[in-house]
This record gives sequence, structure tokens and C-alpha cells, in this order.
Amino acid sequence: MLIIFHILNFWRNLMLDNPLPHSLIEGTVIDRIDWTEQLFSLKVKAKMHPFKAGQFTKLALPTATGGWSRRAYSMVNAPNDEILEFLLVTVPEGGLSPRLDALQPGDLIYVGEEPTGFMTLEEIPETASDLWMLSTGTAIGPFLSLLADPSTKKRFERLVLVHAVRHEADLVYQDRIKALQADLGPQFHYVPIVSGEAVPYALTGRIPALLSAGTLAQFSSVELDLLKSFFLICGNPEMVRDTREVLQNMGYQKHLRRKHGQFSSENYW
Ligand SMILES: Cc1cc2nc3c(=O)[nH]c(=O)nc-3n(C[C@H](O)[C@H](O)[C@H](O)COP(=O)(O)OP(=O)(O)OC[C@H]3O[C@@H](n4cnc5c(N)ncnc54)[C@H](O)[C@@H]3O)c2cc1C
Ligand SMILES: NC(=O)c1ccc[n+]([C@@H]2O[C@H](COP(=O)([O-])OP(=O)(O)OC[C@H]3O[C@@H](n4cnc5c(N)ncnc54)[C@H](OP(=O)(O)O)[C@@H]3O)[C@@H](O)[C@H]2O)c1
Repeated sequence: MLIIFHILNFWRNLMLDNPLPHSLIEGTVIDRIDWTEQLFSLKVKAKMHPFKAGQFTKLALPTATGGWSRRAYSMVNAPNDEILEFLLVTVPEGGLSPRLDALQPGDLIYVGEEPTGFMTLEEIPETASDLWMLSTGTAIGPFLSLLADPSTKKRFERLVLVHAVRHEADLVYQDRIKALQADLGPQFHYVPIVSGEAVPYALTGRIPALLSAGTLAQFSSVELDLLKSFFLICGNPEMVRDTREVLQNMGYQKHLRRKHGQFSSENYW
């Protein structure tokens, strides 16, 4: 059966202008959410291999020159969900994101078969009891996946989701955040930061400065503690760099498998 499948796939690829690389599988867009002009979510049906909350895969489209344009995107959904969900921003001059933004339900999309990434629960030392998830823009995605995984709430005493965006409209997935607040109660702390306009329920500024001033701890009512706190930092590479520096100045260290520390990070570009 498997041999027939591979032979059929081989012939199918020969007939196509852009043969499908081994690492990609075909998927279908089944729905989309338009949050703002530039921010959107795609719901995709594809038989990707199982992933761990916090991981990412590739999304890809064929190019006019016979190749493939592919980039990394984090899953927003929980690992057991049948439908994959991705949160994206259109980078106006970008090579792939404007093309992904043009996709509509029913359109084909290509997905990396093998998910990857180390921003997962098993990479966090057992000693940490408070998980701080620091994100900018679309990087809230992997944290929503982590929060949707029941193991996360079993594992930590306190969960702090920090989301920094430019405009209030970029504070996406408010319905899920409200559901988490209802489900997790005082275990869950949401810290919205809006840098470009004053919003009554959000902080103003940037993550590194708000962290070093103690404002994130004050707003969330969760103390920073060298033994209890673990930080996942994700998104804008300059935010990641500056936040790591602030944490190091506060005595925290980068986490390595061979030498445990208190923070890990993932750059989006
Ligand atoms: C591990 C990983 C996970 C990622 N997950 C996501 C995700 O879930 N959602 C998502 O939208 N992007 C994600 N990205 C970024 C994504 O892979 C692409 O870089 C992005 O979509 C731009 O691709 P492009 O071809 O349109 O632009 P390119 O031509 O590749 O232009 C890249 C430029 O776009 C800007 N940029 C790239 N990504 C972002 C972003 N997310 N927010 C703001 N500005 C950005 C930067 O200025 C960067 O230099 C992830 C990247 C990595 C490495
Ligand atoms: N909307 C705009 O004004 C604007 C302008 C230029 C480009 N763009 C493009 O729009 C796309 C999406 O942008 P985005 O708003 O989702 O992502 P983003 O540019 O990464 O901004 C998201 C959040 O991260 C903050 N941030 C940026 N640099 C930081 C740093 N060095 N340290 C700490 N925090 C930092 C921003 O604060 P700050 O607001 O203080 O930077 C903002 O609150 C990008 O491709 C970007 O090039 C948008």
C-alpha cells in the first residue's frame, strides 16, 4: 500500500511544475480570521506529524520560478486539535506573508510535515513553578498553544502571559484569554502592553524596561524569584536581546540542557 502511495506521489510530482519537496505536505485552508488590516489567522487541515505545544512548522507556497517560498510559523492550537491554526502578520514588502494573506477557505497551502522547536514544557526545568511568557506581536501564538495544553496548568503554580503590541486592535484572541481567566482563575495573569496608544487596561512601553522597573511584577502581582521564575521570550529579536540582558543583570541565566538557568528564547526574525 505504502509503495503504491510513493509511486503515485512520484508520478504526481513529475507532472507538477513545482515538485513537492519531501519535507512538505499538502493542506487546505478551511477558515481565516481577520483581526486587523495586517493581522490574520489561518486554520489549516493537514496531516502534519504530532507536535508539542510551543513548537513551529513551515508554511509554504510554490513560486512562479518553479521553487518554493517557505517560512517558519508557530501553531496556536493545542496539540490534540484536528485543525492547525496560525497567527500571522503581513509584512508589506515580505516574500511570503502577503501571499499567505491572500489565501481563502478552500485554497491549497503547504505545510512542513515535521514540527520542531524547543520552547516546550519538557525543556523547562522541573524546579520552576512560575512560567512567564513574554511576547511581541504574533509571538503570542506559541504561548496560546502552551496555555491550551492541559499539562501546562498542572505543571505551574502561576502562568503569566505578557503580550506587547503597537495598537489595541493587535491584542488578538481576547475570547481565548477571557476563557483562560475563567478557567484558571488566580493561576493565570494576563499583562497586555500597548506601545502606540494609551489603553486604560494595558501598560504602555516596552517589555525590557517594564521588566527591569518591576512594573510587570507589580501589574501581575507575581513576584520575580530566582528559584521559582522561568521566562520564555519570543518575537521581535531586539526585544528578545534586550530582555535577556535585563534578566542577566537581575541575576537570571540562559537555560541550557547541560546547565540549568531561568530563561529561553526564540527569535521570529
Ligand atoms: C521559529 C519562528 C517562528 C515564527 N512564527 C511566526 C508566526 O507564528 N507568525 C508570523 O507572522 N511570523 C512568524 N515567524 C516569522 C515568519 O517566519 C516570516 O519571517 C514572516 O512571515 C515574514 O516572512 P516574509 O517572507 O513575508 O518576509 P521576509 O521577506 O522574510 O521579511 C522578513 C522581515 O519581516 C519582518 N518580520 C518577520 N516576521 C515578523 C513578525 N512575525 N512580526 C513582525 N515583523 C516580522 C522583519 O522585519 C523581518 O526582517 C516565525 C519565525 C521563526 C524563526
Ligand atoms: N505599525 C507601525 O507603526 C509599523 C511601523 C514600522 C513597521 N511596521 C511593520 O509591521 C509589521 C508588524 O509589526 P508588529 O507591530 O506586529 O511587530 P513589532 O514591530 O515587533 O512590534 C510589536 C511590539 O514590540 C515592541 N518592540 C519593538 N522593538 C522592540 C524592542 N527593541 N524592545 C522591546 N520592544 C520592542 C513594539 O514597541 P514599539 O512600538 O515601541 O516599537 C510593539 O509594542 C512589521 O513587519 C513591521 O516592519 C509597522
